[in-house]
Amino acid sequence: MMTKFADIKGFVFDLDGVITDTSVLHGNAWHQLADSLGVSWNDDLANGLKGISRMDSLEMILKAGHKENDYNQEQKVALATQKNDNYVAEVNKMTPANILPGMKAFLDDLRAKGYQLSLASASKNAPRVLDKLQLADYFPKVVDPANLTHGKPDPEIYTKGAQVLNLDPAQCIGVEDAAAGVQAINAAGEVSLGIGDAHELAAADMVFADTASVTLENIAKKLG
Ligand code: BG6
Ligand code: MG
Repeated sequence: MMTKFADIKGFVFDLDGVITDTSVLHGNAWHQLADSLGVSWNDDLANGLKGISRMDSLEMILKAGHKENDYNQEQKVALATQKNDNYVAEVNKMTPANILPGMKAFLDDLRAKGYQLSLASASKNAPRVLDKLQLADYFPKVVDPANLTHGKPDPEIYTKGAQVLNLDPAQCIGVEDAAAGVQAINAAGEVSLGIGDAHELAAADMVFADTASVTLENIAKKLG
């Protein structure tokens, strides 16, 4: 890895599973839909959906159940809407207490030290989630997933995440909990920071087991 800690000027954040545990809420809502469609649920399917856009997630679930040809586009949109309604009902119950351990302190530290922050979440609900967590002020620069040609693992969202900060990708650290997201960060030419299972996120430049251990000091130690 060529990038040194001193070269880093910005952080491009994923949201779900990084700043808050909405990945569990997404998973629960998809699990419920899969059950209603008679598609059997397992951990591999659940993990594979992390970071994947709403319609791509639905396609993956239908494919897992060999049902990809059973619904027309209108029916698929109705299924995705049903999942989203269930998800949004859970998001509406969220408060700042749902910020994952250490993340508020990390964001405060980044801000205090002058790092630039942008959000590269695949979720169209990201503004609502930030609002519920009272973190919207931290992220004036949010990449709108509605304007993307390709979802994660394509680099587009992370490339745009650096662009909105007027930074070179090599000056940015991308922060992710999903394998598809780490792949996207790497392809965008940013430094990838994975949070979660080291095996699942093996492609990341650095992996932290949990959000509480993600600090500038620990990142500096790993980057050198
Ligand atoms: C990602 C989540 O952040 O956003 C995925 O990891 C989710 O699970 C995707 O499917 C799209 O979210 P939404 O809110 O637009 O359906
Ligand atoms: Mg995520």
